[in-house]
Amino acid sequence: MKSHDPALLQRLAETVGTPFWIYDAGLLRERIGEIRELTDLPGVQARFAMKACPATKVLREMAGAGIWIDAVSGNEVLRALHAGHAAGMEPPVICFTADVFRDNALEVVLEHGVLPNIGSPGMIDELARAGYRGKVSLRINPGFGHGHVNSCDTGGPSSKHGIWHEDAGEAAERAAAAGMTVVMLHAHIGSGPQFEELLENLGRLAELFAGMVPLFPGLEAVSLGGGIPHNYRDAGAKVPLGRLKELFGQAQARLSEAAGREVRVEIEPGRYYVAPTCTLVTRVTDVKRTQTNEKGAGAVFAMVDAGFVDLVRPAMYGSWHGISVVGREGGGETEAVVVAGPLCESGDVFTRDDAELIQPRELPKLAAGDLLAIRDAGAYGYAMSSNYNSIGRAPQLWLEPDGSVTQISRRETVEDILKAETEERI
Ligand SMILES: Cc1ncc(COP(=O)(O)O)c(C=O)c1O
Repeated sequence: MKSHDPALLQRLAETVGTPFWIYDAGLLRERIGEIRELTDLPGVQARFAMKACPATKVLREMAGAGIWIDAVSGNEVLRALHAGHAAGMEPPVICFTADVFRDNALEVVLEHGVLPNIGSPGMIDELARAGYRGKVSLRINPGFGHGHVNSCDTGGPSSKHGIWHEDAGEAAERAAAAGMTVVMLHAHIGSGPQFEELLENLGRLAELFAGMVPLFPGLEAVSLGGGIPHNYRDAGAKVPLGRLKELFGQAQARLSEAAGREVRVEIEPGRYYVAPTCTLVTRVTDVKRTQTNEKGAGAVFAMVDAGFVDLVRPAMYGSWHGISVVGREGGGETEAVVVAGPLCESGDVFTRDDAELIQPRELPKLAAGDLLAIRDAGAYGYAMSSNYNSIGRAPQLWLEPDGSVTQISRRETVEDILKAETEERI
């Protein structure tokens, strides 16, 4: 893969400094191609859950490939429009999914006519008070589902998302009384740790929605959400997309039969498009040790200049990301090391899981100056980065298959961090 080329990464590190993100446009196009093939069925449409990676460059690739958008804030809708996705509902290229209208969300929905996908019954009244009449989608909590970790569970009694499935009829009446037509039913049940479980849950969801069809005479579409998994531990492992395609085709036929007219089936993966397409490159600044004592075992710490302000997934969910030493992928003498970042936070560790704060990783013996590539960082990577510790976000670079590289966002400065501060009296 070109974006793993050691000479290129060394050169880029010297040019823009570390850490930096590098996207592989060729790989992104391959993943988009796979989803297009997966949804190449009559009445089946793919969206991109843009929260996974909202860079304009990525959104433009999606627009060019005819992939629609799932946006989750007013500003995400505006970013999708900025990247060239169409406003309006004919067809509803941008769908706005939320459990809460925050900031400009309501205004943006009204102004640009994007389809609101309502996750809480009171949002129907909020829309009505704002003067909205027309098409809506309902996000349903189907009562089951399984995230990749418990904190990502998106269906079931403990999930905050959506309208409880047994309350769907009441929500339909509330919407009708407010002059709104429910044109879509939606649920996102998460990918779960097992593919078989995902298939089973998606089939169950389609069946649940088929049973609800009589409540919604204006129904045009059903969204089965995102959640196509990416195997972080074995990036080469193939997800059996053919089996999903079969399921989507069957769901489309079943729902259309239940409705007595064509019902569109939508999916909205995020991670699958982008996870493997970006690498976070960071430099080792030092290697230090602690010694075993009565509190526990000593460890070797490779200190690096990236932290959870850049990639928060390990600190937040205990997620595993492959790490390689640039230019030393071939091996050599190895050592178990903890890879830790610059933040004034003990949890700023990349080699951990959800139970253990440190989980040393066997890597070629490291020294200050080495470059590390943290793999599969394209989904919920830069998108979740922050300015904590007043560290500016690292630059994002974009590599084309011809080898050309563009900087698509620069390193943030203190001026960027200070620019929203005011002394305005209220
Ligand atoms: C409503 C909704 N749709 C789609 C997604 C995308 O999920 P994934 O990136 O796992 O495909 C999410 C993720 O949490 C979501 O909440």
